[in-house]
Amino acid sequence: KIPVIIDCDPGHDDALMLMLAFGNGLFDVKAVTISAGNQTQEKTLNNALKILTLIGAHVPVYRGAEKPMFRQLITADYVHGETGLDGPSLPKATLTAQPVTACEGIAEILTRATEKVTLVPTGPLTNIAIFLLAYPHLKNKIERISLMGGGIFRGNMTPLAEFNIFADPEAAAVVFSSGIPITMCGLDVTHKALVFQKDIDALRKIGNKSAAAAADLMDFFSIFYRKHRSELDGGAALHDPCAIAWLINPDIFRTKPCYVAVETKGELTRGTTVVDFYNVLEMEPNAEVAYDIQRDEYITMILNAVQNLP
Ligand code: BDR
Ligand code: CA
Repeated sequence: KIPVIIDCDPGHDDALMLMLAFGNGLFDVKAVTISAGNQTQEKTLNNALKILTLIGAHVPVYRGAEKPMFRQLITADYVHGETGLDGPSLPKATLTAQPVTACEGIAEILTRATEKVTLVPTGPLTNIAIFLLAYPHLKNKIERISLMGGGIFRGNMTPLAEFNIFADPEAAAVVFSSGIPITMCGLDVTHKALVFQKDIDALRKIGNKSAAAAADLMDFFSIFYRKHRSELDGGAALHDPCAIAWLINPDIFRTKPCYVAVETKGELTRGTTVVDFYNVLEMEPNAEVAYDIQRDEYITMILNAVQNLP
């Protein structure tokens, strides 16, 4: 099994990412740590606890930072609603958060780890950056960071910046300059990782309670995409599960090693991942950047995982 720590801000697509991670059976999930992003820390923590309760995942959950390193918190309630997970009615959480923070939790786990652990962040990178700055000697315990964030040629918060990176650009800059191998699933690939109505129907047909919640989540998530992303032809960009899917089967992706830097100061470009896709700078690549995915394989992977859940 692949040892992983997942850092997320559920969030509809984060919830599906958790279902893929726990339903697939390939991962030894050491912890789930929580970032503030799609909603406040309070809400994303509560959402994660509810989803993990629903899918029967017994895993330590750690509360993360309440706001970005240097900026005001911005949330994405325009996509994910008032709760951050609007749509389904979810069970009350029976899991509770650990008494220490995400940063301390990651440090404890990596200190004890006998093999390297992969980090999977699917929200703003605040917790990961704080951890890297606080415990630099534990870097060598990290196998890789497979993240959802950024974009090669496009943004969704601004014309060039993607939400997770825009929300905490300084944290993203710390992560991308860390020297740790990175897989970046940005908008170029996630806007090809589309979920359509027929996929939601297939989810619902699975018939277990996780599948019913997943289908309700995707129904709500699709509203934003149908209204504001008509060029996706009715599909919704199922971003976050890509970061897990790449670890399960990288062969369904097309990726390229690139040098990536994060713009923290730009007037028009705050939070842009500046990806040297054509290697014009001739710098050493620091990330494996995904730009295409076999959509049908991706959806099948998710359906199969959800089938294994309660
Ligand atoms: C990212 O932002 C969030 O709204 C999603 O959960 C995803 O992680 C997409 O830009
Ligand atoms: Ca997310």
